[in-house]
Amino acid sequence: MRILVLNGSPRSKGHTKQMIEAFQEGAEAVGHQVDVTGVCRMKIGGCLACEYCHSKGNGICIQKDDMQAIYGLLKEAEMLVIASPIYYHGVSGQLKCVLDRFYSAAYPKRPKNLKKVAMILSSGDADMYDGAMFSYQGDFLNYLGLEDMGVFTAYGSQNGSPQKLAELKKFGMSL
Ligand SMILES: Cc1cc2nc3c(=O)[nH]c(=O)nc-3n(C[C@H](O)[C@H](O)[C@H](O)COP(=O)(O)O)c2cc1C
Repeated sequence: MRILVLNGSPRSKGHTKQMIEAFQEGAEAVGHQVDVTGVCRMKIGGCLACEYCHSKGNGICIQKDDMQAIYGLLKEAEMLVIASPIYYHGVSGQLKCVLDRFYSAAYPKRPKNLKKVAMILSSGDADMYDGAMFSYQGDFLNYLGLEDMGVFTAYGSQNGSPQKLAELKKFGMSL
């Protein structure tokens, strides 16, 4: 299976990245192809709400920025992993721009190969996930109709711990 991971952390060796790497190691060990995209290294603007994609663009976004590479990967992906640090109770702003730009990718229907979704979140404190979970449930499970493969969180000293990384690796291997 082709798996697209959207990494919303700007920290190249950060907690989110460590969890992604553990997940990737597990998933690749059982034969999946994992594409990890660091969205904070890309130039991706927010949605302009111009409605071009929902009218004569027929699903094509008018903005020609680095989001085009993600649109290409989304066409191939069977599973999406949304990975982010928690910033002020939600995903990072850079990743939020990417998620808003799904407005065109999900029109008139979701990308045809995409069937499953999971989320990986890192935070400083516990119980910080309601904002990201609201979007996950509403946008990705209910609206796009993707199958929920699980939500994996780490806060405080759980971040980077061998137990947490083993959990992510095991998840990757379970797919
Ligand atoms: C701008 C900013 C906002 C943050 N907001 C929160 C927050 O609301 N709640 C929380 O528990 N941690 C918050 N944090 C801490 C990060 O979520 C935490 O350090 C996380 O482990 C960073 O992940 P990373 O190493 O993958 O970037 C914030 C950090 C930054 C830089």
